[in-house]
Amino acid sequence: MAPKTSPEVGGMGHSIRRKEDPRFIRGKGTYVDDVVLPGMLYLDIVRSPFAHAKIKKIDIAKATAIPGVLAVITGKDLEKYNLHWMPTLMSDTQMVLPVEKVMYQAQEVAAVLATSRYAAADGAAVVEVEYEPLPVVVDPKKALEPGAPVLRTDKKDKKDNHIWHWEWGSKADTDRAFSEADVTVKQDIYIPRIHVASIETCGCIAHFDKVNEKLTVWMTTQAPHAIRTVFALVAGHVGLAEHKIRIISPDIGGGFGGKVPVYPGYVIAVAASVLTGKPVKWIEDRMENLQADSFARDYHITAELAAKKDGTLTALRIKTLADHGYTDAAANPSKFPAGLFHVCTGSYDLKAAHVEVDGVYTNKPPGGIAYRCSFRVTEAVHTIERMADLMAHQLGVDPAEFRMKNFIKPEQFPYKSALGWEYDSGNYAGALRKAMDTIGYAELRREQEEKRKRGELMGIGISSFTEIVGAGPSKHFDILGLKMFDSCEIRIHPTGKAIARFGTKSQGQGHETTYAQILAEELGIPAKDIQVEEGDTDTAPYGLGTYASRSTPVAGAAAAIASRKILDKARKLAAHLLEAAPEDLVYEPGKFSVKGAPDRSKTIQDVAFAAYTNHPQGMEAGLEAVSYYDPPNLTYPFGSYICVVDIDKGTGEVKVRRFVAIDDCGNIINPMIVQGQVHGGLTMGLAPALYEEISYDEIGNIQGGSFIDYLLPTAVETPKWETGHTVTPSPHHPLGAKGVGESATVGAPAAIANAVVDALWHLGVRHLDIPITPQKVWRVLREKGVTE
Ligand code: CDP
Repeated sequence: MAPKTSPEVGGMGHSIRRKEDPRFIRGKGTYVDDVVLPGMLYLDIVRSPFAHAKIKKIDIAKATAIPGVLAVITGKDLEKYNLHWMPTLMSDTQMVLPVEKVMYQAQEVAAVLATSRYAAADGAAVVEVEYEPLPVVVDPKKALEPGAPVLRTDKKDKKDNHIWHWEWGSKADTDRAFSEADVTVKQDIYIPRIHVASIETCGCIAHFDKVNEKLTVWMTTQAPHAIRTVFALVAGHVGLAEHKIRIISPDIGGGFGGKVPVYPGYVIAVAASVLTGKPVKWIEDRMENLQADSFARDYHITAELAAKKDGTLTALRIKTLADHGYTDAAANPSKFPAGLFHVCTGSYDLKAAHVEVDGVYTNKPPGGIAYRCSFRVTEAVHTIERMADLMAHQLGVDPAEFRMKNFIKPEQFPYKSALGWEYDSGNYAGALRKAMDTIGYAELRREQEEKRKRGELMGIGISSFTEIVGAGPSKHFDILGLKMFDSCEIRIHPTGKAIARFGTKSQGQGHETTYAQILAEELGIPAKDIQVEEGDTDTAPYGLGTYASRSTPVAGAAAAIASRKILDKARKLAAHLLEAAPEDLVYEPGKFSVKGAPDRSKTIQDVAFAAYTNHPQGMEAGLEAVSYYDPPNLTYPFGSYICVVDIDKGTGEVKVRRFVAIDDCGNIINPMIVQGQVHGGLTMGLAPALYEEISYDEIGNIQGGSFIDYLLPTAVETPKWETGHTVTPSPHHPLGAKGVGESATVGAPAAIANAVVDALWHLGVRHLDIPITPQKVWRVLREKGVTE
């Protein structure tokens, strides 16, 4: 679709350059650690070497003797103010600092407050903690066995490590479909713990102004307003009221869901500032970030898929153990402890499905954050896409043909899934066909056949995923009771320039550019004349923040609706200026003209000036609007990815030779930004497929706690991504747009895993858990006698 506005206006469909980049590429961004306040103090944190241990004694004498060290804060200090525990976003509880015992390796044990970062670190190094090790539980299956040590002894009535059981769908219908099925496949799939590993670690500066009794916190948060409310609820009893709390989320160097939770360091910094009246800075180092911040995934899945002889899918059954570490600190909507995992029927027209998930405590840091996926959707997509491939191979049908047969058809939308979701729009066959044409699918299958005859290992993998993004609607989605809507407030200045403020918070997605483009599209004001601001709770309207690709579906819609409210008033102003009736005016972006007399017109800039200088009697001055948008439904972006891999028989190394990604996020605001989102997302999908995993040994020692062991792909490992798109607008979003931020991270791992299994299927390989490391593949090749 050709853009409606000129390149100078820069509305939707224009690849205008990112407004934020001039400051980023010059190194002039303002991240939390760039903020320096007079008299600032520094925190460093003492962490536990044990995964489970009683704290017998904390000796702070050596630490406080170090010049510059002012205090060592322990759990007992916080206990006096009842701040040693805090609620998690899932209404569980998490320690700020422990009083009795630690529950995972690298847990915060004490905090050292000093006049310099170096003094704080020196102090932390000599705090002496006496521990009494306790039995450690790292495997969630063992955690549920009778006789397993009960971890949450703080919960008086807790007799086991089971957190919750959740199930969805019709068990009876699903069981019946399985009993009537001609073919079934069953597979255990483990989706390991991974970490967002954003470039910027977490941190904050808390500044309590004792005179004005106002707390300002600069912090790395994706959801500043929600944090303000949580702080007020948790610390109201020590005098922190919500109108006296200001959260400022400045530039953020990547969030990906990892900057949604409240980490103990934030709370300790606030407590230290309230006590001293000085600004207190806490910035994690890289290893603290990797070892102690919330993790993603860690799902132990058993999936079964049923089909008729002719390949028609009929039912899906899934049982899952969700390892949440020692507390359920996931950022899921309250009603859905397993997030939106029940979108696991994916792109297929399945008549019956039943899902069960059990949350489990183990001696690990909190898990379950929505790492670049909308609340467990990556787990759902990986499962259904692996299972679809397994079934296709089992039936001896080409995986592309199999998908085409079972896709929900375009005419079935809006489509009600067996697990209750109402998919808004889709054309799955269209996206897969485009991906197949782009990559030359038929030719690749011929090449594979020939190579197989020569004993070479080449595989082709498909992932035709459906995402689910844009929470609300608020009737179903809330976090800690806060309904999931989002907001935009627009003020048009007299000279026709504008400022727009949002309840979301960009972490690199380019909101300053794309939101301006939405206003430009609606109002005809050039995007360069629109200032976009987010992240300051004193100025921005209340919103739930940016995660789960919700900014475009929710706040982007709010921007369109607020713009339309502005246009309602602008029309009346234009009518006044043109001495015509409002209904006799024709509007095109940026201009009102009289019907049948196009030369009698007023620009949006004329109208803006009149709003302050020449508004009609009885009309209020000014041109402003605000929208709190509650979406009627989620949006369902989708895509088809095809990956070609070659496997080195000697080393087991998997090389991604080609990767074609066709995405559909409805109408696109900025094609260049969307492409950037997909490129980054694909690399973040490649990462868990082949490289990244955080595991623990049997006594809870983290394996992968530094970048030596946690293998982040670099430019060297990243293949050339070939991207493209189809456009299937969302029928309920005011701009027809869907989210895209996470699609590629969600869709990519299954395409890569499917390609590897496709390469090895003829050897009898049915499944490999990600990450598919050279060692894993080499072992299989040795077992199958392919290599020595
Ligand atoms: O919530 P988050 O910003 O992470 O995700 P998103 O709403 O999917 O948007 C990511 C970036 O892609 C933003 O700058 C969007 O405005 C842009 N985008 C777009 O240009 N067109 C779309 N249909 C969807 C997103």
